[in-house]
Amino acid sequence: MIFTLLGTKMSEDIFCRSLPKIELHAHLNGSLSEKTLRKLGCLDESILEYHKLLNIINKTDRTLDECFELFKIAQTATSSKNSVYLATQSVIEEFAQDNVIYLELRTTPRAENDMTKQEYIESVLKGIKDSKSDIIVKLILSIDRRHDKVCSEDSLDVIVKMREEYPGIIKGIDLSGNPYVGGFDECLFSKAREHGLRTTIHCAEIPNDNEVQQILNFHPERIGHATSIHPDFGGSKENWQLYCKAKIPAEFCLTSNVVCGTSKCYAEHHIQQWMKNDLPFSINTDDKGVFCTSLSKEYEHVLNNFDLSKADLWNITYNAIDHCFASTEEIILLKKKMAEWKETHAQYF
Ligand code: IMP
Ligand code: ZN
Repeated sequence: MIFTLLGTKMSEDIFCRSLPKIELHAHLNGSLSEKTLRKLGCLDESILEYHKLLNIINKTDRTLDECFELFKIAQTATSSKNSVYLATQSVIEEFAQDNVIYLELRTTPRAENDMTKQEYIESVLKGIKDSKSDIIVKLILSIDRRHDKVCSEDSLDVIVKMREEYPGIIKGIDLSGNPYVGGFDECLFSKAREHGLRTTIHCAEIPNDNEVQQILNFHPERIGHATSIHPDFGGSKENWQLYCKAKIPAEFCLTSNVVCGTSKCYAEHHIQQWMKNDLPFSINTDDKGVFCTSLSKEYEHVLNNFDLSKADLWNITYNAIDHCFASTEEIILLKKKMAEWKETHAQYF
């Protein structure tokens, strides 16, 4: 469909692409595009992993476990300081090309080969600092649910130390990883909070009422996916009531959910409950490389599958600015940029 107003035409895909966007949920290694993986030598055909990767990529109905296989393969591309640095730069550049004006990149610090967790973080920071793209980038460091207490506490110690050195870039901590494995350690996240880190937690990717209740009571600044909270999507009535009171901004990643099978299809995505009940949310990519998507495409899915106008889509982005972990000055700047864009593109609304 083509929008026509005052004789001006702008197709939905061009509108979604040119709209300045806010990305709050993007995992570094899952965001590596095929081009970046090739550049980093990961898709060398002589490598056995390549065939494994293609087998999974070519499947349209991947299981959640298969998606996690893909992450492991993508991580082989970033097993040295230099490859982490190059990967970070590529990912930032690609988001900027998609007119993302603010990016919160998240990644799990890994000690690998001759690289320590601290060096991994330093390489990501160097990639962010050296980026020439016109985009504000912040870093969220992830704790993998499958890691034991000792490993997670060790990660937190490094994260806290690095945050003290780079408070302008390192903004928060995330809990991610295979939702079938491990769990939420409230003590660890409370400790992170005491050190001034904001928190965002992958929550309810699969039905798990006890854990969802624990997370909601902790009240992180944001939650990721939020799939099985509403009773129509496998959650309990009590947790949905708890959520509606807490109104924690949700980070939605539609393609990720559809490909992993935690949502049946775009039109039946749980985002509809947030729209219907006027609850806070943002639209994100999760893993643009692994799920072959972009933030523009995610916006298009939302525009095409729900009864929204272009002004609604602009509002969704604008409101997401209030969920981000940037400074007050940066928030003001982002809002100004969005308002200016709306003014100069008024004919398309
Ligand atoms: P990394 O942290 O930069 O290595 O990005 C890949 C990692 O992000 C994966 O190994 C997972 O731990 C995490 N991740 C990516 N997507 C998801 C998701 O949809 N749910 C939970 N964890 C995820
Ligand atoms: Zn995620």
